[in-house]
Amino acid sequence: MGRIIVLDQNMINMIAAGEVIERPASVVKELMENSIDAGAAKITVSIEDGGRKLISVADNGCGMDAEDLAYAFESHATSKIRTSSDLRTISTLGFRGEALASIASVAQVKAVSRVKDSTAANCIEIDCGNKGTVSPCSADYGTTVQIRDLFYKLPARRKFLKTANTEMDHITEHFIRIALANDDLDMTLIHNGRELYRLPSKEGLRRRIAELFSSEIAENLIETEGSEKKLHISALLGRPDISKTSNKFQYIFLNGRFIRDKFISHAIKEAYRGVLEADRFPVVFLFIQIPCEDYDVNVHPTKIEVRFYNANLVHSQILGCLREKLLAVNLDVDAKLPKAAASASLSQRQKISEAMADFFKRHRPIQAQQQLGFHKISADSNRTYQTPSEALRAPAIERTEKDATSDMDYTLDAHKFLQIHDSFIVAQVDDGFVIIDQHALHERIMYEDLCRRIQRGKLESQKLLIPESFELSPAQADAIEANSELIEKLGIELVPFGPKTAAIQAFPTLLAKAAPLDFVQDLMDLLVDKAAMLDGERLLEEVLSLAACKAAIKAGQRLSDNEIEHLLADKETIERASRCPHGRPTTIKFSLSEMEKQFKRT
Ligand SMILES: Nc1ncnc2c1ncn2[C@@H]1O[C@H](COP(=O)(O)OP(=O)(O)OP(=O)(O)O)[C@@H](O)[C@H]1O
Ligand SMILES: [Mg+2]
Repeated sequence: MGRIIVLDQNMINMIAAGEVIERPASVVKELMENSIDAGAAKITVSIEDGGRKLISVADNGCGMDAEDLAYAFESHATSKIRTSSDLRTISTLGFRGEALASIASVAQVKAVSRVKDSTAANCIEIDCGNKGTVSPCSADYGTTVQIRDLFYKLPARRKFLKTANTEMDHITEHFIRIALANDDLDMTLIHNGRELYRLPSKEGLRRRIAELFSSEIAENLIETEGSEKKLHISALLGRPDISKTSNKFQYIFLNGRFIRDKFISHAIKEAYRGVLEADRFPVVFLFIQIPCEDYDVNVHPTKIEVRFYNANLVHSQILGCLREKLLAVNLDVDAKLPKAAASASLSQRQKISEAMADFFKRHRPIQAQQQLGFHKISADSNRTYQTPSEALRAPAIERTEKDATSDMDYTLDAHKFLQIHDSFIVAQVDDGFVIIDQHALHERIMYEDLCRRIQRGKLESQKLLIPESFELSPAQADAIEANSELIEKLGIELVPFGPKTAAIQAFPTLLAKAAPLDFVQDLMDLLVDKAAMLDGERLLEEVLSLAACKAAIKAGQRLSDNEIEHLLADKETIERASRCPHGRPTTIKFSLSEMEKQFKRT
């Protein structure tokens, strides 16, 4: 009896602060969000000692009069919602009326504010929940909130703060998120008197990204936009060659609010499938606008998660918009030539020049090369070359569908090419040259061809003269049975051949270059490992990608001019030619202008 008491308001606020105010960065986020909600055009954030000593956020927003200033630090005090129906249409970043009260319960706070049409400012001080009175003072219009000695009465919380640099990293991350979502704002971040970021308004998002991250990232972003069914998407999509090892560089904004959302992250991953290796994460800046009543932001104390009422629609529209763009653009990798060619040593420069000069010396029209017997297949060679018709089932792509999907933004010169190390093809394009990985490109060509053909029905197959038999494990036998339809579609005929044994009787014509037994073994491994986890479409993609890899010409395989011509012609007609089905690049481009720069011609 008598053990239960109702906590006083200050205690309630301190507990609430535990939810919202985890560290200095949370304070910075809440104060900056208030400035944005107040319509500020300029925000200056000054930090001392990683936020432990001081956090100050100054804005030129609408400001508060004396009465509002006194209320602002009360819990559940907000100007942003009034009735329960407002909760369904929240268009401001804040609405809980808790941030300032929570912050003021765990630190020393001073706030100064002046509304635009008033000549006088007011200020208030609160020390860990003990509120002083509002008094007049002089200040410019807008609001400045200063937080000193965060958690000073909570040694346990203070102890958990990390070094100033680590806390500053967290603060910077929040600053970056807000800066990306509000590129029309003038924003500054200062630490211990040193300006870390000074971001003028109206310089554009790309410029801002260059300042916040790097010009390499800013220069390698593809812009896209889409609007459908009340959902507007605008995005800057990182090219695959600036991908990262984590999803830290995926910035998703919903109506100006940074959010994390597993559906959207999944849509992004799916959009890049086949464009990027499976273990890499793209750099993405994604801005979504949807009506406020189509999602609920009141599901997480820091509002970093929201609940979409129609998450499937959001997922499919984002996936569609991003994927369409990624398929349409040329994703060839731009060669990274040494930046400091000017300061390179003489011998380095000589080496580059020699390599380039050598390339151009040998880079003659194809007729001349043929007269010289240039990389022609010689009968007396002890290599086992494939004939053109074998290696490249020419033409792999049916020309009737030509041109519809090419993503190349340059023209290949059909006659100026050269195979090097029996693995790469160097070819001239209108504004430079490209180096193509012959296996990767042919793999993509085979893959696209296989996809197209299998959409129309079963792949054409041919009977093997002598059926190839092999042993089956029980798991493999099960996988064959469970996927019999898929195996049949591929044009593979498997028949039982005694206990625990099966035989391959027919094999797809298109995969003539793959050894049937080898391919079927790999196919069974894939089915055993993945069939249960993947849906039908994904499984088919994996299977076709395996088939393409097995059937494609290999590195180390010498090609005839005719074969190379076919490869180059196919490159111009297929989708996603700049990436192999696993997402690795097929082509690296060297631009003429970059070469001229390197050779000091400009
Ligand atoms: N920089 C500012 N300029 C003008 N008014 C402000 C500013 N900061 C706070 N306010 C006022 O003080 C109120 C309380 O702010 P507080 O951050 O505690 O709550 P909120 O923003 O309404 O909701 P939330 O707790 O979700 O942030 C706001 O609703 C707003 O009216
Ligand atoms: Mg707020």
